[in-house]
Amino acid sequence: EKGGFKHFMLKEIYEQPRAVRDTVQGRISLDTGRVYLDPMNITEGEFRRFDRVMIAACGTSWHAGLAGKYMIEQLARVPVEVDYSSEFRYRNPVLDERTLLIVISQSGETADTIAALREAKERDARVLAICNVQGSMITREADGTILTHAGPEIGVASTKAFTAQMVALYLFALYLGQLRGIISSDEARRHAQQLAELPVKIEHLLSDTDRVEELAKEFFRATDFLYLGRGINFPIALEGALKLKEISYIHAEGYPAGEMKHGPNALIDERLPVVVINTREQGNRASELRYEKTHSNIVEVKAREGIVISVLTEGDEMSSKVSDHVIEIPAASDLLSPILAIIPLQLLAYHIAVRRGCDVDQPRNLAKSVTVE
Ligand code: M6R
Repeated sequence: EKGGFKHFMLKEIYEQPRAVRDTVQGRISLDTGRVYLDPMNITEGEFRRFDRVMIAACGTSWHAGLAGKYMIEQLARVPVEVDYSSEFRYRNPVLDERTLLIVISQSGETADTIAALREAKERDARVLAICNVQGSMITREADGTILTHAGPEIGVASTKAFTAQMVALYLFALYLGQLRGIISSDEARRHAQQLAELPVKIEHLLSDTDRVEELAKEFFRATDFLYLGRGINFPIALEGALKLKEISYIHAEGYPAGEMKHGPNALIDERLPVVVINTREQGNRASELRYEKTHSNIVEVKAREGIVISVLTEGDEMSSKVSDHVIEIPAASDLLSPILAIIPLQLLAYHIAVRRGCDVDQPRNLAKSVTVE
């Protein structure tokens, strides 16, 4: 059942090329760049009229939602707010019929997220679900669903569902951007091409994991980890930290790289591994700027004796030179590179947890789906 893998989590990490391919399959045309969503009770007219998107989710799905905010705001130019489902419900959220609530859930049975969905429907908002289980409560109650085709996820730590969720959000952002006339057909075709190339890049990443295993060997005794990222890499920092906490029981925190000087810098010493995600898209000004700023953050961590493990784009020299350790990922566009960047971090958490003798697929105190509020 584990297909020759030692744990479900590892098997599921290796299923990501397929999960991504299946989630994209049939939903975007390489010739026209047009996105086709599954039939739903939300009309194109309604999608054009929404003036606000809200996202509610928990845990890893919430991290996907944070990444989705960058995608939707960038590609469709609609303001997006992201909430933990458990908070959304209790803060008397402002929403009406021009608000679209997106709920994201692997299982479709998370009680907090179901409660958020019901709350929104009561206030006349439309609800779109991104979900991995057809027929689950969330898919039955939402006005529409984009199914992630990651396949059953058994390991408590979510991996392939997360990358599939980000792909679904990207498709949705493209869809909305096209409907609203923000994305030209040339651009749409380019996006379709980039999405089509993703699975091969993931395969490439997974074909050589020696570096990550060496790092696990070097750092599995650490008591704390910090993960930093800027822009869309910030949710990846959070997700990298969650994976580590969840399965290895090492204290880890994710932070926006720019926040370090506002407090967390005080934590840095020669024993603290700091994982910095600093990918770049050559020729994209916003990405280059973010890259340079994060590069300065790496230099600052080094100046305080911290140990820097950087996740960088293949061939990057500048940040590579100032880092203690480097994990390279294939080049990709700014909004798609997080789908690659998370993979070595999933593997790092996995190999550290195995070395610590933890029960990777069934971490203590956790359940795969949380059906109570
Ligand atoms: O099934 P859901 O996506 O709604 O679950 C949400 C969280 O409980 C889930 O992502 C949790 O954080 C995972 N254990 C993370 O790996």
